[in-house]
Amino acid sequence: MINILIVLTFSILLLTKTVLCDGFFYMQRIPSSCMKTTLNLSTNGSVSNNCLTFDWSQISNLTTNYTTYIDSDTNQMYYAQIGALTVLGNIDNYNLNYECPPIGYNGVGSGCQTLPNTQLVVLYVSALDYKLYAIDIILSGAPFPVPENLIDNQPPFGKAHHQFTMGIPLQSTGYFQICKNKDSNKCPNKNLDEHKLPYPLPSNYGYGIFGIQALDFVTDSTWIMDDLNKLLIVTAGTDYYYFNATGFFMYDSVTKTCTWSKSCDYICEVYNYNSRFLDFGGEWIITKKWGIKDMQPLAVEAWIGNAIDAAGIFPVILYTDKKTGHYLGLDKLDSMPMPKMGATYWYTDHGKTTARTSIKTYHPNVVEVGCTKDITEWMGVGDNDDIGLGFDCV
Ligand SMILES: *[C@@H]1O[C@H](CO)[C@@H](O)[C@H](O)[C@H]1NC(C)=O
Ligand SMILES: *[C@@H]1O[C@H](CO)[C@@H](O)[C@H](O)[C@H]1NC(C)=O
Ligand SMILES: *[C@@H]1O[C@H](CO)[C@@H](O)[C@H](O)[C@H]1NC(C)=O
Ligand SMILES: *[C@@H]1O[C@H](CO)[C@@H](O)[C@H](O)[C@H]1NC(C)=O
Ligand SMILES: *[C@@H]1O[C@H](CO)[C@@H](O)[C@H](O)[C@H]1NC(C)=O
Repeated sequence: MINILIVLTFSILLLTKTVLCDGFFYMQRIPSSCMKTTLNLSTNGSVSNNCLTFDWSQISNLTTNYTTYIDSDTNQMYYAQIGALTVLGNIDNYNLNYECPPIGYNGVGSGCQTLPNTQLVVLYVSALDYKLYAIDIILSGAPFPVPENLIDNQPPFGKAHHQFTMGIPLQSTGYFQICKNKDSNKCPNKNLDEHKLPYPLPSNYGYGIFGIQALDFVTDSTWIMDDLNKLLIVTAGTDYYYFNATGFFMYDSVTKTCTWSKSCDYICEVYNYNSRFLDFGGEWIITKKWGIKDMQPLAVEAWIGNAIDAAGIFPVILYTDKKTGHYLGLDKLDSMPMPKMGATYWYTDHGKTTARTSIKTYHPNVVEVGCTKDITEWMGVGDNDDIGLGFDCV
């Protein structure tokens, strides 16, 4: 009996310590936004001033785990879990809720939907002790300015970051609060602000997967880009997209239909993977991707924010190869809270493309799927074109 009492007292002390343990909050793009925070793990879920209230049951229900990585700085291994969470309250006047942009914004079509008080988050859960060490919140860009005014690594897009001094043990029910303690000028990771995504991304090819964890669905995916000639082929399973400088063909191999659209072209598709919308997340050594067997560890740079392309606007973790800057894929979040979510593109086999040649040798091409009669109708005739030679150079 005495033993049990001692154990109880000890765990209450530990809990108190955790409750008082503090953390940091800052918006990566806003230097003055840094503050110290206090965690309240014994909150009942009510809203209080300068506090954000998270629901554990939503976290355990909604987060999806596509990526496992080792942080290059700390050598710690984490799961990057993504999710749309209902988070009540606000800190100062910062609105961290995700808002869908108006239709037409930077070429965005309809399709984005969300709910009130929804934050789109990346949770960093340690693979060692299964505790939560940090949260990134993807900012939607609201209030929406005219796109021409957007500047690299400047608001309104980007991310807010919660860093906890100690890990928080994950729970299946109840709530926790992150409350403002005081302003601070010591933002951790300030140097992250200076990193910019290669612009445009260097031409490369990738063969890998497109997968949706919720459906246990994995299919083939291809990415071949040729920036010089503004050509891109992207595929996901039975869907094929052929972009050129004017628009894109979409081929559905199930219905065997090819449609031409001018709503987005090569520039719209590729040049929006950009530091106007994405913040540097750090150097990660990816050890596991969901859907990939026998993954070889790979050093990448992670970028967190929004991608804006033919599919609309969507929040992502985007990955580039640390050595080459090549695009490697992305984990996509859905903006609507629902059980399990998101999707992933990941290219295990990748490298540099040879201008035009790599695009030309891809099958099925636009002629084979019946979009055009001649491949040059879509490819155009490039400066370094080899078509006039009548054979493919080796
Ligand atoms: C935690 O929140 C509850 C209300 O939900 C409050 O009664 C309690 O004082 C808070 N604890 C701390 C340490 O702020
Ligand atoms: C939660 O705690 C606050 C005080 O911190 C109190 O005003 C409120 O009634 C409590 N709510 C519930 C549902 O117990
Ligand atoms: C979590 O999932 C369980 C089982 O599907 C469901 O009963 C519960 O309402 C969900 N909770 C939330 C907060 O979505
Ligand atoms: C995340 O994925 C890894 C590898 O697929 C798995 O071992 C781990 O249990 C998952 N973590 C969670 C929290 O689901
Ligand atoms: C792109 O392809 C379309 C459809 O074949 C064609 O009309 C257009 O001229 C092409 N654009 C360029 C720049 O070659």
